[in-house]
Amino acid sequence: MEDKKILFSAIQPSGILTIGNYLGAIKNFKKLQDDYNSIFSLADLHTLTVRQDPAVLRKNTYELAALYLACGIDVEKSILFAQSHVSAHAELAWILNTFCYPGELSRMTQFKDKSRKHEDNINMGLMDYPVLMAADILLYQTELVPIGADQKQHLELARDLAIRFNNIYGDVFKVPEGYIGKSAARVMSLADPTKKMSKSDANLNAFISMDDDKDTIIRKFKRAVTDSDNKIIVSPEKPGISNLLTIYCAFTEKSFEQAEQEFDGKGYGDFKIAVGQAVADVVDPIREEKNKILADKAYLDSVLNMGAEMAERLAYRTLSKVYKKVGLVPRKRV
Ligand code: TRP
Repeated sequence: MEDKKILFSAIQPSGILTIGNYLGAIKNFKKLQDDYNSIFSLADLHTLTVRQDPAVLRKNTYELAALYLACGIDVEKSILFAQSHVSAHAELAWILNTFCYPGELSRMTQFKDKSRKHEDNINMGLMDYPVLMAADILLYQTELVPIGADQKQHLELARDLAIRFNNIYGDVFKVPEGYIGKSAARVMSLADPTKKMSKSDANLNAFISMDDDKDTIIRKFKRAVTDSDNKIIVSPEKPGISNLLTIYCAFTEKSFEQAEQEFDGKGYGDFKIAVGQAVADVVDPIREEKNKILADKAYLDSVLNMGAEMAERLAYRTLSKVYKKVGLVPRKRV
């Protein structure tokens, strides 16, 4: 690898991705991979913290791998791999567990939210999730971690654990910085723009999935909730229109000023179709490309295998150092 800073990020293969997930994550990854030695992971071990149907998890993992590739992750430049293929993740998580306190984990916002959502299965993994995430990051001497705003606390813990360990054992881990991309500006529900867009919304019209085809996308935008007057501007009093403008600008790379000018004097009907069109122009080709890649499992397996080999080499460098520092006897292969 060239002498660039290391970037690590991961997405859980937990099903449909919305355009919010796309804008907040993969869209930025594609650009960042030119400037960083980038490592992208399918966080399948994290996904297990909520009970999964095994066949569905397998399918979702391939889907996500294909989506990364369709969105322009280039495996000549970046490493793409499944977390479970590199056992160092689980191993480092164990060591880091011995440096982390239950109180730090039980007060995490996401843990509290998920505990409420999955009352019947508040398992240790759900609570330990941020430690595994810290292991993901710290194994690669990562300097930059692109994350959504909801992962800020988790990144903070990764930094704390790195510092805590380094204070005892010397400079073992690089202390990572988070990066919250500007288009991670929250994409809101199309049905209720005061709520975040979520794939688990019971109302299918509330979100755009990366799997929606062009007609579906335009139909959903036509139904999107707007506001009472007829002005197309960004304003806190106009959450519906502001959300549509945010989406439009993120997909067209235009500024709010440009978009407001473009739609000055136009009606909501035309505006909503234009937003739908702009989104479909990006999402439709990605979906088609993803399905093409998905049809070739042997290719996907080879990509993931190559990624795992590269990731493993880097990960074990850090893990061996950690094992040695804490006093584990190295295995002597005779
Ligand atoms: N927890 C992250 C999410 O759900 C996914 C993730 C797992 C991750 N490991 C990571 C993100 C390491 C950044 C770095 O969004």
